[in-house]
Amino acid sequence: MAKNYLIITAIFFILAIISILVIYYSAKLKKLMLSKQETEVQNNNLLNINKELDKFVYSISHDLRSPIISVKGLVEIAQKEDNISQIKEYLNLMHQSLTQQDQFIRDIIDYSRNKRNQVCIESVSLNKLIDEAISQHQHIKEENPITITKNILADEIITDSLRLRIILNNLISNAVKYSDANKPFKHIAIKTHEKDSCYVMEIEDNGVGIKKDHLQKIFDMFFVTDNNMGSGLGLYIVKEAAEYLNGNIAVNSEKNIGTTFTVTLPKPKDFDFSKISTET
Ligand SMILES: Nc1ncnc2c1ncn2[C@@H]1O[C@H](COP(=O)(O)OP(=O)(O)O)[C@@H](O)[C@H]1O
Ligand SMILES: [Mg+2]
Repeated sequence: MAKNYLIITAIFFILAIISILVIYYSAKLKKLMLSKQETEVQNNNLLNINKELDKFVYSISHDLRSPIISVKGLVEIAQKEDNISQIKEYLNLMHQSLTQQDQFIRDIIDYSRNKRNQVCIESVSLNKLIDEAISQHQHIKEENPITITKNILADEIITDSLRLRIILNNLISNAVKYSDANKPFKHIAIKTHEKDSCYVMEIEDNGVGIKKDHLQKIFDMFFVTDNNMGSGLGLYIVKEAAEYLNGNIAVNSEKNIGTTFTVTLPKPKDFDFSKISTET
């Protein structure tokens, strides 16, 4: 009887040890599987980043070269030209090419700042940033200038000023760039307000508008409808910048009627407002 009892106890202990081992190894296996999945996700992310970098380097080297080639060609023709007004025309074309290249380099700087700089939250005046962005376009003197109106219902907001500046500069610059020369009244309306726990910014224009089948692509890196107008980096950077701030950007457009971009940024939660007022 005692022998049977011993055998049963031994079996019980062996079973208990086996079950503990099974539980231990299955937990370990589960952990390994999870970390394998995580590594795969990280690997895929790295592959995507690598692809994006490859595309980036290929496109920027090509796009940075083309204005240089064009300026070189113009210098060569201008050297053989005696007519002053013709030479002035060539100089204007060179100026256009260099301005385009300058804008492209600024886009690359924004791209890298947006990727590298940490999100730094502070109190920012939307009104001031909008005025700054508008003033950068006031040198464009035209016979039919664009009327820009502001309706600022949210001004001092808590966000990252670097990203907000990138967003506003790009959207306002696009609204100016893609205005419709054929319209007698060119108009841009910039509106800001608060909705629920978000800041909302709207940039509306009555410019050339965007075709329906292009709407999905405009936020892609290097997507342009007219190569001479820009690099195609702007909206890609704007979308990334909005996402860094946990926000989003939406577009509504109709060809030949106009375009509205709406940026929504959530208000940062648990933010110590008193700290800002003493620091700024
Ligand atoms: N306000 C706008 N009105 C019409 N088209 C626009 C507007 N903003 C952007 N687009 C279209 O989206 C494309 C991508 O914009 P973006 O990335 O800023 O590049 P870029 O300004 O360098 O051309 C532009 O080439 C243009 O076709
Ligand atoms: Mg642009």
